[in-house]
Amino acid sequence: MSSFHRDTWVEVDLDCIYENVKAVQEHVSDDVSVIAVVKANAYGHGDVQVANVALEAGAKYLAVSFLDEAMSLRQQGVKAPILVLGASRVSDLELAAKEDITLTVFQREWLEEASKVSLGDASINLHLKLDTGMGRIGARSKEEVKEIVSQIKSMDNFRLEGVYTHFATADEIHSTYVEKQFERFNELISEVEELRSVRFIHCGNSAATLRFPKRIFNAVRVGIAMYGLTPSPEMVPSLPFLLKEAFSLHTKLVHVKKLALGESVSYGATYTTKDEEWIGTVPVGYADGWTRKLQGMNVLVDGQYAPIVGRICMDQFMIKLPYQLPVGTVVTLIGKQEEQKISSDDVADKLDTINYEIPCMISYRVPRMFLRNRSIMEVRNYLQDKPIMG
Ligand SMILES: Cc1ncc(COP(=O)(O)O)c(C=O)c1O
Repeated sequence: MSSFHRDTWVEVDLDCIYENVKAVQEHVSDDVSVIAVVKANAYGHGDVQVANVALEAGAKYLAVSFLDEAMSLRQQGVKAPILVLGASRVSDLELAAKEDITLTVFQREWLEEASKVSLGDASINLHLKLDTGMGRIGARSKEEVKEIVSQIKSMDNFRLEGVYTHFATADEIHSTYVEKQFERFNELISEVEELRSVRFIHCGNSAATLRFPKRIFNAVRVGIAMYGLTPSPEMVPSLPFLLKEAFSLHTKLVHVKKLALGESVSYGATYTTKDEEWIGTVPVGYADGWTRKLQGMNVLVDGQYAPIVGRICMDQFMIKLPYQLPVGTVVTLIGKQEEQKISSDDVADKLDTINYEIPCMISYRVPRMFLRNRSIMEVRNYLQDKPIMG
């Protein structure tokens, strides 16, 4: 921790990620390939570290959103197959082929353009995305799908390696909509003969994988469960195994003072002490992703809950301490202290959003520290974009 100059850090427990991937693999059958979803810097956890540990735990493929994210993994030495889930430019095809990155396809026009690109000796794997009800990207009709498949067949150096869809409501216990999507996906696969023999057929995100392990074909794309978070609060009672939350966020008090009754704290003077109070200053703010809407949320200090008082500033906020504590005392914003815990779920609840957003929103200003085999493996400072210990 000495080679960066800030006592605020995210701890990413890679052992939890390893165990979550193993548990997912055990939950589905051995012949189902786990595709570890590491888009968005692995949901804010750290792309290459998560990718490597997921592969070590048995994942066979990685998935990201954009070609840049795939390139970032390649540049950091990741050799495993990587699927880009989002749209890519035809003009980037050569680069994708050179770096052996699998692209998602779903438009006839895109393929027509792609057919004019010469890849020389290189070839590229494609996964066809079907829109069975998400309404985002994907081919929708049987005719469209047939045309796309025969177009790919006619193109040298292009190989249809996968076909997939994405569920809109798999995390909701009411399953009418997800059943419709299953049905549509099954229909399209049975109607278009070539699709039945592609190597990877996948539809399961975390929620569908956890809920329907026997119906998710031969690959699953797992994101949130790998990070140890539930796909939705309503799934908690029926989770098939314990998910181990990998992400925690900590800092240290930089200032402690006693305020008299009736004194105010922070911009707008929105908080006024109701008595003599010990107030601690925490060096984290909305520029770190700790948004102003978290005013009133608890943090943990000395194993106890302490509320954020007054407005959250760009780089600092104040908490009401249970009693006098020394400067340098560890403050946990997400994670455990003694018997108490604040999960990304609690932060999401306070913000009226989903847990996915919480690790993603903790900005590049906060260095990530990676734990493996219960000890520090690497510390990465994204401000300098390099590991500072490894
Ligand atoms: C296409 C696609 N597949 C898989 C996932 C992983 O979903 P989850 O994190 O719910 O497992 C996502 C994430 O949003 C996605 O967009």
